[in-house]
Amino acid sequence: MSSPLPRRAHEALVRRFAAAHRDRPGGEVAVGHHNRNYVVPLDWPLALLLGRMPFGTRAKFRTPLDAVEVVPRIWPSEAEVLRAVTRRLGEVPRCLADFGDWSIHSYVPGRPLSEEIPHGPVGEELLRSFARFFARTACVPEAELPPLPADWPVSGDTQSFLRRLIDFTELRVHRHNRRRFGALFRAVGVRTDAMTAFAARLPLLAPRPFCLIHTDVHRANVVIVRPGRTVVIDWELSMFGDPVHELATHLVRMGYDEAERDRMRDLWADELTEAGRAELTKGLDTDLPVYLDFEYAQSVFPDIMRAALALPAVPADEDFEAAAAPVRRALRRAAEPLRLKGVPGTGRVVTALRAWHAGDVGERFLGAGAGAGPVSRLGGPGRLRPGPDPFAPLGPDQLAGTLNCGPWQSR
Ligand SMILES: Nc1ncnc2c1ncn2[C@@H]1O[C@H](COP(=O)(O)OP(=O)(O)O)[C@@H](O)[C@H]1O
Ligand SMILES: [Mg+2]
Repeated sequence: MSSPLPRRAHEALVRRFAAAHRDRPGGEVAVGHHNRNYVVPLDWPLALLLGRMPFGTRAKFRTPLDAVEVVPRIWPSEAEVLRAVTRRLGEVPRCLADFGDWSIHSYVPGRPLSEEIPHGPVGEELLRSFARFFARTACVPEAELPPLPADWPVSGDTQSFLRRLIDFTELRVHRHNRRRFGALFRAVGVRTDAMTAFAARLPLLAPRPFCLIHTDVHRANVVIVRPGRTVVIDWELSMFGDPVHELATHLVRMGYDEAERDRMRDLWADELTEAGRAELTKGLDTDLPVYLDFEYAQSVFPDIMRAALALPAVPADEDFEAAAAPVRRALRRAAEPLRLKGVPGTGRVVTALRAWHAGDVGERFLGAGAGAGPVSRLGGPGRLRPGPDPFAPLGPDQLAGTLNCGPWQSR
């Protein structure tokens, strides 16, 4: 909205009113894996300043949690991404104010799909709406997107793109957490060289042009506005990359059954073709399985760490058994891609978790202050904001924090 106030005065006022609003939220709280969201009706001064009349309109006050990325983030500012996205996808919530360390987004009234249909088939209408969404996202012009990191793979170079993702998993997820979790990984059967061996076996991918991809379209990031009408939220992890990676993450994280998975793949290819982007589907049959394998392989590390970190300070037998379930599921899914030698039984996983828990006392009680490792701090201010090179090695402080694990990992 154009304001009669000079820009800086306007910004200062928005910040002041917004901070006061955020401190007295009194609205609904929605905590995701990366952000704490307060959904609050705007009072009239803030509504006026943000140009969101009538006042009483709800907005989402979004504060990042202290989270470490376990998937790469190439654009530090979600607000910038949203500026480009909302120009073409008008239904996506806009960023109304960006204060750097937190932001205000418009709020889509509706219910997340994760509450409407937490598991199982979603039906043809929703599958079609996702396919249309992917095609529209793929059509956002590259020139309108925020600048890419200087050394980002060039469009079409799918091989380098997937290598970047694999290297990220190996360096920033696996190796950086090895000091604290390495023995646990090994005890449940994940060899130290599992990911590098996966990389070495990578087949040659077909070249495909890159496009904007959301990379995290799962049930908790889809809001049902009305029957059949969906809005995809949470664009923090979007990137410019291989469209087949988008399809693979979606297929896995939605937890589709085989029939819906196949149907979704076909609809995805049809919609892209109809949108005049058939070249994005080139090599789909051979390359989709590769990306699916990668998705299962990469998630084994965060899934194991997350299950371990979720254990209470003094776990009961049931806590260890409950934690073993997601670990075994992750191992089952990664077994083939990572060539694991079978999936250990619950007893072996429980023993591994007990040993990890007993040895992790120092990390839990002394925290990062005592020179603890990457994911030792479970709270605290701040949030990893990647620098210009999103793959530059991080110091222990930047890596400290909760794991950023999507809900697909807990299925
Ligand atoms: N507009 C909305 N309507 C309904 N639920 C929402 C809305 N925005 C967020 N939520 C809920 O809050 C959760 C977290 O929001 P999200 O923006 O995805 O944050 P995070 O980055 O932490 O995942 C969502 O998964 C969803 O359940
Ligand atoms: Mg989310």
